[in-house]
Amino acid sequence: MPIHASADSWILETQNTAYALGFNASGMLVHRYWGPRLPYLLDYPPVQDYGEWSSFYGKREINLEEYPVYGGATYREPCLKATFTDGVRDTVLEFKAAQIEGNELKIVLEDAHYPLRVTLHYRILEDLDLFERWVTVENFELKNSGLENSGTGPIQLERVLSAQWHLPPLEDYRLTHLGGRWLEEFQVFQEPLTHGVKLLESRRLTSGHQNYPWFALDNRDALEERGEVWFGVLAWSGNWKATLEKTEFHSTRASIGLNDWDFALILEPGEHFVTPKSVAGYSSAGFGGASRALHRFVRGNLPHGDAPHKVLYNSWEATFFDVTEAGQKELAKIAARIGVELFVMDDGWFHGRNSDGAGLGDWWPDQTKFPNGLNPLIERVNALGMDFGLWLEPEMVNPDSDLYRAHPDWAIHFPTRKRTEMRNQLILNLAKLEVQDYLITVLDQLLSSHNIRFIKWDMNRNATEPGWQEAKEPRELWVRYVEGFYRVWDTLAARHPRITFQSCSGGGGRADVGMLTRADQVWLSDNTEPSSRLKIQHGASYALPASVQEAWVTDMESERMPPYGQGDSALKRGKMPLEFRFHVSMCGTLGVGANLLHWDESERQQAAELIALYKEIRPVVQNGDLYRLKSPLKGAFSALEYLGQDGAEGVLFAFRTHLSEPIVLPPVRLAGLEPHTLYRVDGLDAPLSGAVLMAVGLTLELKDFSSVVRRFYRI
Ligand code: DGJ
Repeated sequence: MPIHASADSWILETQNTAYALGFNASGMLVHRYWGPRLPYLLDYPPVQDYGEWSSFYGKREINLEEYPVYGGATYREPCLKATFTDGVRDTVLEFKAAQIEGNELKIVLEDAHYPLRVTLHYRILEDLDLFERWVTVENFELKNSGLENSGTGPIQLERVLSAQWHLPPLEDYRLTHLGGRWLEEFQVFQEPLTHGVKLLESRRLTSGHQNYPWFALDNRDALEERGEVWFGVLAWSGNWKATLEKTEFHSTRASIGLNDWDFALILEPGEHFVTPKSVAGYSSAGFGGASRALHRFVRGNLPHGDAPHKVLYNSWEATFFDVTEAGQKELAKIAARIGVELFVMDDGWFHGRNSDGAGLGDWWPDQTKFPNGLNPLIERVNALGMDFGLWLEPEMVNPDSDLYRAHPDWAIHFPTRKRTEMRNQLILNLAKLEVQDYLITVLDQLLSSHNIRFIKWDMNRNATEPGWQEAKEPRELWVRYVEGFYRVWDTLAARHPRITFQSCSGGGGRADVGMLTRADQVWLSDNTEPSSRLKIQHGASYALPASVQEAWVTDMESERMPPYGQGDSALKRGKMPLEFRFHVSMCGTLGVGANLLHWDESERQQAAELIALYKEIRPVVQNGDLYRLKSPLKGAFSALEYLGQDGAEGVLFAFRTHLSEPIVLPPVRLAGLEPHTLYRVDGLDAPLSGAVLMAVGLTLELKDFSSVVRRFYRI
C-alpha cells in the first residue's frame, strides 16, 4: 500500500521515493519530507510545529505549509488568493476530511466562515517515482442553505496554483530551467537560487517559447548521472507561473500553476474549478535520472502510447506558401522512394493562402491550387504507400478571410482599441462556445471527407487586447480560452482516433506536458540548422522524450569554420554533410523537410539508407532510455546514448562540429549497462564488457562536422 495514513498525517511512497505531510498541533497542514524512500515508516521526520518568532514572524510563515493561502500573518508566495462577496480578502482553511482512493490522497479543507472548499489532490505514480498534485476549489454555498446572510455569494479567485513543492532544508540550491525565444527554444539556464523569489512564467496565452514549465533544483552538486535532483512540470498549455523561493530561514520551495497575472476566476454558488496538474519527482541519479522518469511519464500519457512514430516529410521549407497539387505530388514521389511513411502538406493549401496575409479561417482547399480538392493528392500519396498529413492553424483568423468578414466579433479584442495584428493575424476567442462549436463542425467535416492521418496544429502569435465583452469576468479569458481550445482538440481527436496530432506554435511555443496528452509529438523549433538543433534537442530532453521531438533534415545552412590552417578565419555559411544532418534528426522522430527536388541521386540514395537505418533503431530511440553522455553545450564534441527498455540493445550517437586540429578526442563512456555482461559493438571485432564500455569507453575517429551512429547489443 503506497499511502500510509494515521489520523492526521500521511506518507506517500513510490518505488524509490517518498513524500510526507501532516497536520501540526496548530492545525496547519505542513510538509514533512520529500526524498529517497526510507526503510521504516518511523524514519520519516515528524510533523513540526515551529513557534512564532519576534513580532515580525507568525507561525504560518515559519512552518512549511503544504498549500499556503493568502490570509493571516504570512508574506510568502501563497497558492491561493480569494476575495469574498463582502470584500474580505483573507482565507482561513480548516481540516474537514481526508480520503484515500487507490493511489490518490484527497485532503479536504474549508474556510472557517465562507463556503469555500479546497481539496488538495496527491496522486502517486508508483512505478515512475513521481507525484501528481492538483487542487479543486469549490463554492459550496447552496441556495436557501441559510448561509446567504453571512456575506457569501460569488467568490473571486485571484490566484489558484496547483502545488507548492517544498525542498529538504539544504542551503545551497541551484536552479536549472529551460527557455529562450523563437528559433532558440529549450536553452538550458543554471544559477544558484539565492534569497528571494525567482519567477518563470508565460503571459502570452500559450505556454510560450520564453520559459518552459519545468524546473529542477539540486544542492549545487548533482551531475548528469549522479546526485540528488528535485524536479517538476506543469501540464498546462496557457499562461503559467513558477516561483522558486528561498526564504530568510533557508527554506526552499517551488510553487507552480496558472499565472495570476491579469487573472480572475469567479465561482458562483455551486461552481467549482479544477487546476491543471503539476507532476514532480526526486532523482538520486542526477539530471539523467530525472529526465528518464519524466520521459516515461510523458510517453505513458501519449494518445497513441508507444506506437512507433512515422518517418515524415514536411513541405514547409521546400515550398513555403507555393503549394500546388502537381508540386506536392512530385515531392511525394521522391519522399516515398527514400522511405518516408507520412507525407505532410504544410501551410499554403487553403482558400486564398498565397502568403501570410490572407486565408486563415477559411479551411477549404484553394480552388486555384487544388481545382479538384485535396483528394487527388491524398489518393496519390496513399498509392505511393504513405499516410497523408495536413497543416492547420485553427485558432487564427486573417482579417482578409471570409470567416473574419462574417464574424469580426469572434476575434479577441477590446472594442475601443485597434486590434494588433501579428503575422497579419488575430486570434479567435476560443473561450466562446459558438467559436468552439464552429471550429469543431468545420474541422470535423474536413477530417471526415479526407483520408487524413496526421494534423500539424500550429499557433503563430500571442494574445493582445485580451477583451471578452460578454463575459461576467473578462479576465477569465486566459483560462477559458485554453479550456475551449482543449475541448475543440479533444472532440476532434475523439471523433478521429486514427489521427496523430503534432503541436506546434511557431516551433516550440506550445510543447508543454499538457499538450502531450493530446499530441503525440511536438515541433521543437523553426530552427532546423543542425548544430543549433543539437542544443535545442539537448535542452528539450530534460523534460521530453525523443519520440515526441519531431526533427526534420533540411537544407538550412550553418555557420562553419574553414578547416584549420586553410584560408581566412571568417565564418562561412554552408550545409552540414547530409549524414550529420540525418544523425541529428535521428535522435528524435525523424522527418525530412528539405526540397527533395534539389537533392541529387546520390543524396537521395544516402537518405534512403539512413531512413532504413532509422527504422531499425527507432524502437530503441523512441521508447528507450536516454543517457546524455557529452553535452553539446560544453563543447564541439557531443554524444548521447539510447538504451532499449530491456537493456538488450542500444544506440550511440556522437557529433563533432568544429575543433582545431591537432586533437585527440576523448573516449565516450557509455552508461546504464550491466557491468558483467558482454556487448557486441558495431565496428569492433571483439565484444566488450559493460564495465569496460562504461569505465574506459569507446574511442571514435571523427573529423570536423562529422558524426557517427554505433549500435550495440547485449550478448
Ligand atoms: C510555423 C511553423 O513552426 C512552421 O513549421 C510552419 O508550419 C509555418 N508556421 C507555416 O506557416
